Amino acid sequence: MKWDGRSISLIDQRKLPQVEEYVKCESSDCVALAIKDMVVRGAPAIGATAAFGYVIGAIENKDDLCVEKMNKIKEKLAKTRPTAVNLFWALERMHSKFLSLKGDPDYVIRSLNDEAERIANEDIAVNKKMGEYGQSLLPSNATVITHCNAGALATVDYGTAIGMIHAALDHGKVISAYVDETRPYLQGSRLTAWELMKLGVKTTLICDNMAGWVMKTKKVDAVIVGADRIASNGDVANKIGTYSLALLAKRHNVKFYVVAPISTIDLNIKSGSEIPIEERSHDEVTSIKGIRIAPDGVGVYNPAFDVTDASLVDAIVTERGVIFPPYDGKIEKVVRGG
Ligand code: MRU
Repeated sequence: MKWDGRSISLIDQRKLPQVEEYVKCESSDCVALAIKDMVVRGAPAIGATAAFGYVIGAIENKDDLCVEKMNKIKEKLAKTRPTAVNLFWALERMHSKFLSLKGDPDYVIRSLNDEAERIANEDIAVNKKMGEYGQSLLPSNATVITHCNAGALATVDYGTAIGMIHAALDHGKVISAYVDETRPYLQGSRLTAWELMKLGVKTTLICDNMAGWVMKTKKVDAVIVGADRIASNGDVANKIGTYSLALLAKRHNVKFYVVAPISTIDLNIKSGSEIPIEERSHDEVTSIKGIRIAPDGVGVYNPAFDVTDASLVDAIVTERGVIFPPYDGKIEKVVRGG
């Protein structure tokens, strides 16, 4: 993402990897639509984008920069997607900053701009720290399975789960990756495969339903994924298909690691059953790139995320270190800085 103080340009992730095109948003409506329509996606990326959208909202309301107007901007941006908590975390942070500010609109907007830039810059630093902690879990010649996209595109830069691979490469480790294509939206085949190949990782694309067989017949050291929301007990909401992968990993003695910043942890939620799961358009399942593949009139269920029980997670890598099970109590302690 590129921010120029008034507008944000987002690489259009819907068109990658074939077309590298940017969508320039100069209004908060445009930012909200870009998040809703998946121009930008991935939990930390939508959080940072929403923070810049909040600044644009303040600029739009410069002549009457009041709490009521900024509440509306916050609500509009928060309504875009329900599962990734980073969105609400970033908006809360921007809104409390706004509520703490006193001064003329130019000063308020400048301060909000600084806060949004801090959120973006911190994200990169946090990802690099997680990468460093996370890479220590990987052997020097590691084969991993990835799901969805948890790379630079899903964050401000560097990535969470893919950041762990990036850091391992920087340590001279040789990493091979089986990349789940991640039906129905294909974040794996379109985005992760593209990013990993750019990093120089030996990348092998598989359909989601091949992961079990790969674990059974090939050497796989770990499954590594990001997260959209982690409950206090360690349950993890991530892209649909993550839960099945975790079960398969348990069955085949493959480590299952989650890499996510503290901003993805929701202490207000005790367990994964409280996490709202987004359901998306039926067209994503019945069609691929606009081409219908299913019979007309068929029933469709399209949850975009699932929840993996904490008992299936071997470690949660955060910027404050690696948390190992049992998670109860430990996660809260880490988040509160204990
Ligand atoms: O629907 P998406 O593409 O926004 O879902 C993204 C994921 O599920 C990612 O794995 C998650 O946000 C972690 S990204 C660092």
